[in-house]
Amino acid sequence: MKSITSLHTHALPLLIILAILSSTAEAQQTTQSTTSSKQEDYSTYPDWNQSEIATLSAQWLGKLQPLPVDPSNRFADDPDAAKLGQTIFFDPRFSANGKVSCASCHHPEKAFTDGLARAQGIGQTTRSAPAISGVAYSPWFFWDGRADSQWAQALGPLEDGREHGGDRSFHAHLIHDDPTYRSAYEAIFGSIPDLSDNKRFPRQAGPLASDRKILDAWIDMSVEDQNTINRLFTNIGKAIAAYERRLVPGRSRFDRYVEALLAEDVSAMKTAMTASEANGLRLFIGKAMCVTCHQGPLFTHNGFHNAGVPFTEDLKKDWGRFNGVRKALTNEFNCLGNYSDADENDCIELRFAKVTRDETIGAFKVPGLRNVAKTAPYMHSGQFTTLAEVLEHYNTRPKSLIGHSDLLPIELNRQELQQLEDFLHTLSGPSSNDSELLQAPAPL
Ligand code: HEC
Ligand code: HEC
Repeated sequence: MKSITSLHTHALPLLIILAILSSTAEAQQTTQSTTSSKQEDYSTYPDWNQSEIATLSAQWLGKLQPLPVDPSNRFADDPDAAKLGQTIFFDPRFSANGKVSCASCHHPEKAFTDGLARAQGIGQTTRSAPAISGVAYSPWFFWDGRADSQWAQALGPLEDGREHGGDRSFHAHLIHDDPTYRSAYEAIFGSIPDLSDNKRFPRQAGPLASDRKILDAWIDMSVEDQNTINRLFTNIGKAIAAYERRLVPGRSRFDRYVEALLAEDVSAMKTAMTASEANGLRLFIGKAMCVTCHQGPLFTHNGFHNAGVPFTEDLKKDWGRFNGVRKALTNEFNCLGNYSDADENDCIELRFAKVTRDETIGAFKVPGLRNVAKTAPYMHSGQFTTLAEVLEHYNTRPKSLIGHSDLLPIELNRQELQQLEDFLHTLSGPSSNDSELLQAPAPL
């Protein structure tokens, strides 16, 4: 990387001149149109105009806002809840076979994903495990956004027969029966009601169980006893969310590059990124229009789009957000539900969620791109194995098999595709968290 410091040594004065010149006409242009004035030689190190600098300065981690509060989770920022949540996150006892934990599919050493196209727990899922560092910034969770809080999200895999394969009564009993979990839980959430009467509180019971016996056991419980289990179960989710909220990706070469650009330190810029990577960045925020969706320091605007990703042969058409938003609206664990700590007025996202067919059919959550070079395979069901395949998809823009694709023509040539791919590698960085947060914690 050092060798590129010899390139284009007059870039700093040029930058300053450009910044002055571009204050009028160019400042009014959007980032999309700036690169259409191109025909510059992409093999050289780019200079940036003012509008591009403005875009870049909004994309780096230096501009990451403080994490928004989660009014639906009173314990979201409680350090003891986070410690309990971290313990549960790494504990395989919360699974039907004693082998699956959240970390099985969201492994810290794999950028909090699993390296598989479709996640594998007790059984095979139909979707790809997303990297979860930084997702607390999003108002919606899962590829289809069917959960509107991180605690509601965490409850999903615990009861999913293909993931942890448990049911809510099983998980509640685990906390109740284990003295260590029990005292940690009670110190945060208050005393646990006595669940030892197995007639009232069957060891296995849940409304989502595919096993008829477990389902019937739930149906036979009184509403009040169901509520007791739900309360315990949702507090498990709230503790896990308190842990996950702390996970934030760390600075990458891209961030060092933007920091150097803002400080007009050309030599540091060149140390941070090669010419090809920097030209890829220019495409990302310009001609290739990636930044319209992969926007902000986490490289997502947190919305949903139909990117026309092909379906795999063995999976039926996935309606994505169309079903996801409907599930979120009817989820008993949503922001407006009995287990939420929020006020109705705090639930703006849920109350005003877009539901129309046009906007939701075949749409999926725009994933953040931090560490993307480390999180293959890609897309909601791992349809693409490499970044090159992803970029080929954006370039060819196949017709969406469901709804219509939101992708616009970008028509990149081979060299540009390579530059864009090179750029995506500069988003890899260490976690910003201490190593204690990236492993099973010391005993409670
Ligand atoms: C069997 C593998 C597996 C296990 C175990 C698992 N997950 Fe996931 N996780 C996934 C998959 C697959 C998705 C995407 C599912 C979907 O969108 O339908 C996902 C989605 C998520 C998301 C949403 C990310 C986003 O961008 O919206 C979070 C957060 C998350 N998991 C946390 C957890 C937690 C916490 C646990 C433990 C309670 C857990 N996961 C257990 C595979 C797993
Ligand atoms: C219209 C919004 C939009 C635009 C523009 C866009 N993306 Fe995406 N991107 C998405 C969505 C939505 C997904 C997930 C699609 C799915 O799984 O069905 C995605 C997924 C990805 C992924 C896979 C990430 C993962 O973890 O699986 C990569 C890489 C990616 N985009 C890069 C780019 C690049 C590079 C560009 C510019 C050429 C770009 N995107 C332009 C919306 C967009």
